[in-house]
Amino acid sequence: MKKAAVSISFRNEISEIDKRIYGSFIEHLGRAVYGGIYQPGNASADEDGFRKDVIELVKKLNVPIVRYPGGNFVSGYNWEDGVGPKEERPVRLDLAWFTTETNEVGMQEFAKWLEKAGSEMMMAVNLGTRGPDEARALLEYANFPGGTYWSDLRKAHGKEKPYNIRTWCLGNEMDGPWQMGHKTAYEYARTATETAKLLKWIDPSVELVACGSSNFKMPTFGEWEHTVLREAYEHIDYISMHEYYSNGADDTPSFLAENIGMDRFIKAVVAICDMVKAEKKTDKTINISFDEWNVWYHSKDHDEALEHWGRAPHRLEDVYNFEDALLVGGLLITLLKNSDRVKIACLAQLVNVIAPIMTDDEKAWAQTIFYPFYHCSTYGRGTALRVDVICDTYDSRKYKNVPLLDAVAVRNEEKRELAVFVLNRSLDDDVETSLDFSENVKPVEHIYMSGFGLKDVNTASEEKVVPASKELKEGPVKFDKASWNVLRYKF
Ligand code: AHR
Repeated sequence: MKKAAVSISFRNEISEIDKRIYGSFIEHLGRAVYGGIYQPGNASADEDGFRKDVIELVKKLNVPIVRYPGGNFVSGYNWEDGVGPKEERPVRLDLAWFTTETNEVGMQEFAKWLEKAGSEMMMAVNLGTRGPDEARALLEYANFPGGTYWSDLRKAHGKEKPYNIRTWCLGNEMDGPWQMGHKTAYEYARTATETAKLLKWIDPSVELVACGSSNFKMPTFGEWEHTVLREAYEHIDYISMHEYYSNGADDTPSFLAENIGMDRFIKAVVAICDMVKAEKKTDKTINISFDEWNVWYHSKDHDEALEHWGRAPHRLEDVYNFEDALLVGGLLITLLKNSDRVKIACLAQLVNVIAPIMTDDEKAWAQTIFYPFYHCSTYGRGTALRVDVICDTYDSRKYKNVPLLDAVAVRNEEKRELAVFVLNRSLDDDVETSLDFSENVKPVEHIYMSGFGLKDVNTASEEKVVPASKELKEGPVKFDKASWNVLRYKF
């Protein structure tokens, strides 16, 4: 058994947490929409064709914002195809995923689904095959009260009141050669700036996210952010980050340290934002929308063999194991540790496609990664606190000096509750940890996920990897080897 010491001061504040840090993402991809959230005729479908079993799980996750409709899909999407009478909607080829899109679901239906799921939309506009004109039409349709062509069309489609969508993404991964309408940094910077101007002229209350790099390894990383921020700084509010993690090399010690990589990536983007802030001698701060993050690798071989032009094929259906859940817990700790600058984050995605929720025709169930997200979304609202941890470290192939324990705390003044989220990365050792608090706290509960095989998964027939809970006592706490933990206190 190893020993560690954790110290938590209520004054060691990182930031008030923006609830949108617990956002997620639904793309027209695979079975996310069709067969995921929407499946008329399914035993669980409601009068609008939405699966109630899925809504129930989404509500449990308490996701405050969902990015839509892509992803790569949005870069070839005509939003007009997804509004108005369903029977008049065109069937089109989707060149992002080489599938056939029926457009039975569009923003009209998705907005209705979000109402039922208790969430709001983060709308992405197409800056790939389209541009500022189509984006401004969409905003006028969505947010303008009435008396104009697009707002009256919305009314004619049965939606009298505006949708009032607050958060908008200016395209998706425009730095990626795989993207329809891929652009150089300068081309994108100009298009994003001109689009942003039109959107804010129509509705000054919207918040805009410009595309950053698709991942930290992009050859254009850094120069891309710098160029986009230099051009668009005055007109945008956030820059996006995307990253997916993989244990394809079956190197679990490195894999469980990947949130250190996420931290470096965030710090690098923050540094560029602040460099441009300094160059511009402005008081305005650009924050981060980490609007795609997750583990993604299990389904890649399967997906490469898929035939083209299918409808809602099984695609990107990663079946997550226990070590994935551990890393997702670590990634959430990192997002919370950076909550002074990461204001929006979207677990990509929500249903069936690299998702915490899976469905078949009979049921919906929670994958392993559902649980750390559920724990943070449930107990991680309030003010994030830095946690001082003294513990042993290890060297992995990819990362050196990796602390066995990673932790962050969240204080909720309203509920008078404190939650401490702890990942034990050690594959060999339990860690007995003393905890020291600046205020009087009363232990309540220790929720934990441990004791599973690293490759254990949940399936439709067996949900094996689920959390357990025990009474939390005064004194040291044992964090099992390879474990995800939530310590709950009252104060
Ligand atoms: O989430 C899956 C895909 O990953 C998205 O469509 C794209 O933005 C990213 O490359």
